[in-house]
Amino acid sequence: MTDLTWWQRGIIYQVYPRSFQDSDGDGIGDLRGITQRLDHIVDLGADIVWISPIFPSPMKDFGYDISDYRGIDPMFGTLADFDAMIDAAHARGLRVLLDFVPSHTSDQHPWFVESRSARNSDKRDWYIWRDAGPDGGPPTNWISEFGPSTWAWDDQTQQYYLHIFLTEQPALNWRNPAVQAEMLDTMRFWYDRGVDGFRVDAITHAAPDVDKGDHPVNPDWHDGMNPSLRLLKVHSKNQPMNYDIVRMMRAVTQEYPDRLLLGETDGTLAEVTSYYGTQGDGFQLPFNFALLDIPWTVPEIVRTVEAYEAALPDTGWPTWVVGNHDCIRIASRVGSDLARVALTLLLTLRGTPTVYQGDELGMQSADIPPELVQDPWEKQVPGKGLGRDPARTPMPWDDSAQAGFTDGTPWLPVFTPPDGTVAGQAAGDTMLAYVKRLTALRQTTPALLSGEYRTISAADDLLVYARGSGDDAIIICLNFADAPRDPGLSGHTLLSSANAADGPLHPSEARLIRPT
Ligand code: NOJ
Repeated sequence: MTDLTWWQRGIIYQVYPRSFQDSDGDGIGDLRGITQRLDHIVDLGADIVWISPIFPSPMKDFGYDISDYRGIDPMFGTLADFDAMIDAAHARGLRVLLDFVPSHTSDQHPWFVESRSARNSDKRDWYIWRDAGPDGGPPTNWISEFGPSTWAWDDQTQQYYLHIFLTEQPALNWRNPAVQAEMLDTMRFWYDRGVDGFRVDAITHAAPDVDKGDHPVNPDWHDGMNPSLRLLKVHSKNQPMNYDIVRMMRAVTQEYPDRLLLGETDGTLAEVTSYYGTQGDGFQLPFNFALLDIPWTVPEIVRTVEAYEAALPDTGWPTWVVGNHDCIRIASRVGSDLARVALTLLLTLRGTPTVYQGDELGMQSADIPPELVQDPWEKQVPGKGLGRDPARTPMPWDDSAQAGFTDGTPWLPVFTPPDGTVAGQAAGDTMLAYVKRLTALRQTTPALLSGEYRTISAADDLLVYARGSGDDAIIICLNFADAPRDPGLSGHTLLSSANAADGPLHPSEARLIRPT
């Protein structure tokens, strides 16, 4: 246990800054707000804070469209507020990860403004420009993540530029050494300011190979599915050069003592695990989104966990997540009754867990009326359930107006989950109180921090697994049924989501046992 590093032992907590805490009444969360609420993160038992983008941005994709990599958007505060937040976090023993968005900038970034000004601009090759295809249309048939073609026509210079996400998010050309040098220096800028690492955005899209031509049709796609999956992205995602880029980022990271790279690596199991690299040159933690995609059943979960454990490289440390700012809230996906079971799974599997803000309260995906929709994806592809606003509503802190999130009008409506606000859930039989007990147990239990995972049984909606072995072992029993289930084990109950001591598990109960 003692030889674990901070990011192996720690729990990551994702802050979506627009929705965490507003300190100035504009209805949008900010850095001072984060500083005010750091104690919540400490109380929860998390150790590492990942903050989604806070840099200057036209906010077309709410900060994932950056117009200056080395500043703070005035909406979120100033560099001085940032420094104060880092100091306050470090004073509490928290580490801070920033979001690094290497694959694309905003179209308002001065680099792109210059790039699009003329074909012979110094910055032309910082982005990916191509002539029209033979029919005068886009150079390839590629489809962007948010719907239409990945190519946008520029009238002035009579070429198309590539954008994997919104038109306002032109793709950077990482094949250009000047882009590499500048972006890597950006990492140093923030490392020098004291950040403990980065979550690296959209790395799988970092080196699209546009000259390889069209994408083939996805034979499994059918109407009603996400339109961006209609084609197989064989030339744009997970290209060989991505690994060179990650190696460069890791080399910069190694210039500093003890920093972390957490990569946004979606894809097949083989693709995800390939981002560990070889010989310590990849991400220490390539995000593992497997639990986000599967049907929420015991057989599927066991298959997913075992396949991931088996696929990990020898030195690869696992990592798990059940929610983030891009997907449905876990409490809505599995249902409120099973929210504690889901968080217990997240926090007792082997590896570093990431908790998305509000999931510790059982926050649910909110119904956002059409006139309040903010998310560009929902605006571009309405009505398909792809919109991300439902998972981005503000944190409900207390019983004051707007649940203590803002004195103004919140950018998205505030909703309070069934168990109540943060203040309301402080004690008693609440989701938050349970998660706190669970993280406290995790922190002090070697088997939960570093013990091997072993499935014991997975039948009849009941999942039972062990962490660790011998005297140290802990057995985790998760009842997915809405009826009692008997795990058939004897032992001492360390924690129960239903406050049960022994006997059969209650419906939807999570129980941790020390076997006897
Ligand atoms: C992944 C981020 O999580 C998402 O919010 C964003 O829209 C895309 N990357 C583009 O940066």
